[in-house]
Amino acid sequence: MAERNTGELMEKIVSLCKRKGFIFQSSEMYGGLNGFWDYGPLGAELKRNIKETWWRSMTQLRDDVVGLEASIIMHPRIWEASGHTSTFSDLMVDCLLTKKRFRADQVEPQSGLAYGYTGAKNDVKESKDVFSVLLPPGKPPESARKVATQFYRERGIENPVLLGEQTEKVENSQRYNPENGSLLTEPRPFNLMLKTYVGPVESAENISYLRPETAQAIFVQFKNVMEVSRQKVPFGICQIGKAFRNEINPRNFTFRSREFEQMELEFFIRPDEAIEAICGKVAKPATTGHPGEPQANWGWQMWHQYWVEERFAYYESIGLPRHTLVEYWQKGDELAHYARATVDILYKFPFSKRNEAGELTGEELEGVAARSDFDLSQHQRFSGKQTIVFDEELKGAWPKLDDGKKAELSLRFFEARQKYLLKTGEQPEKSSKQAREDADNLSKGYYVPHVIEPSAGVDRLALALLCNAYTEDQAPDEKGKLESRVVMRFHPRIAPVKVAVFPLLKNKPELVKKAKEVRDILCPHLSVDYDEAGAIGRRYRRQDEAGTPFGVTIDFDTLGENGEALKDTVTLRERDTMKQERVKVVDLLNALLGKMR
Ligand code: GAP
Repeated sequence: MAERNTGELMEKIVSLCKRKGFIFQSSEMYGGLNGFWDYGPLGAELKRNIKETWWRSMTQLRDDVVGLEASIIMHPRIWEASGHTSTFSDLMVDCLLTKKRFRADQVEPQSGLAYGYTGAKNDVKESKDVFSVLLPPGKPPESARKVATQFYRERGIENPVLLGEQTEKVENSQRYNPENGSLLTEPRPFNLMLKTYVGPVESAENISYLRPETAQAIFVQFKNVMEVSRQKVPFGICQIGKAFRNEINPRNFTFRSREFEQMELEFFIRPDEAIEAICGKVAKPATTGHPGEPQANWGWQMWHQYWVEERFAYYESIGLPRHTLVEYWQKGDELAHYARATVDILYKFPFSKRNEAGELTGEELEGVAARSDFDLSQHQRFSGKQTIVFDEELKGAWPKLDDGKKAELSLRFFEARQKYLLKTGEQPEKSSKQAREDADNLSKGYYVPHVIEPSAGVDRLALALLCNAYTEDQAPDEKGKLESRVVMRFHPRIAPVKVAVFPLLKNKPELVKKAKEVRDILCPHLSVDYDEAGAIGRRYRRQDEAGTPFGVTIDFDTLGENGEALKDTVTLRERDTMKQERVKVVDLLNALLGKMR
């Protein structure tokens, strides 16, 4: 479809989301609240299915990952340890005229002629505030003067005389508001954490934050969870939950919101030095693709590759084809302060930027980060409580190493720990002493685990699935005439409603009774929509727009009016192929479950 990737397509998707009850603007009756969204009946089911498939694949189907559900508000020191208090900020700029705020990196670059003023005055007052206005080529200077006049008037100078007008050619500048040409403020950092107060007094010591990610709760409960679940490194803890960020410019529908849900796994692994001591050698990726079943000799790079591939496989299993996704390796200067390597999994949203070849480049659905031992080390330093683990195998293996190997591994471990400590601002002497202790501990079987973190957003995935499912095609109506239809081609695993049950006619009590019986058979196992209103073709169209993969019709054959052979059979229709088959009512549930796997 030619328009698949245009703004028009996005508009159609947004409008369908509202019309069908996938997503509504939050607080709509009061004019809405930017960056917040509510999920209607179909959207709520879609999100539940996303979370259930993720949870199932990440923990229930694995014996090396367990779950956690932590509180949203946590001790404020956690955010100091994680670095969020000091570094979790975006650069923002404000329009000097309207005060509208932008993320500095998202201002569209502008070119033209900038009209600068050193100030303005009238008979009673003078302003020395410097101001300038950028005009696109061809616009008359009066436009700039009009904007500047407004600027100085807002500073209390009625009928201002503009002072020191000068012009300057400007190319690709992000210093001007694209909406009115006004100069923007200098970029300033803006912390994205949403603040609140815990307790009855709004004082500095009661400040807390709504968590900006679910990950930190996992790190601070790591020891408790490990103990109660009797897990040993390597193992993981996963969590699904709300996160909050006071985004400067929420945009692209739900893509960048201020309240959203994350699905995060923190997978704890041995440091490479421990693996080398135990296994003799650390396995590193030799080829691309899935590396297969985890092995004891895997270092962090193998585990990283493993989780990247597992995550791609998950997306494919819920209906996002590989060609709609992009594997993006973050460059050195893009990496977070804690990351050794991060692969972003991007989805080619209709609003994604295009490259020179005109292809969509994609936007982030998930990041798979190798976070080293940064997080647990930080919480150890800030809380004063140990996050090290004891590794029986390492303790047993170390004495068997020759002296050269012991020295080599100790030195490497010492250097890595020292580097981390220096980076956090510890004094060189203290860093060396601590790193020496850490290296000694390694030889006794103790270390702070390293982490691989696949971190995905539920809302972004829901949006990707909505975009991916949206299709327009032609289908015959009751009289066989082709009409256009919108079909949401969700994979049956994540479709909000799995099956719709229709009596052929609503004014035939026997049909209605039988259809309700069929609905009651399916309901305990699947999400079912019973619909008796309107012509059958209309009912199919309604379900196509909801993305229901299967439709079941109860007709006169079902009642046995056309012979015993068809009695107690129903028509099962598939949304995508529109193929229909007759299925016995007793076989229906299994037939549907089989198609859903
Ligand atoms: N613990 C690591 C972490 O939080 P992140 O890349 O900042 O990493 C992870 O966030 C995922 O959370 C993103 O890939 C995205 O899917 C989702 N996410 C982040 N900010 C979001 C926002 N403002 N709105 C919607 N989803 C967001």
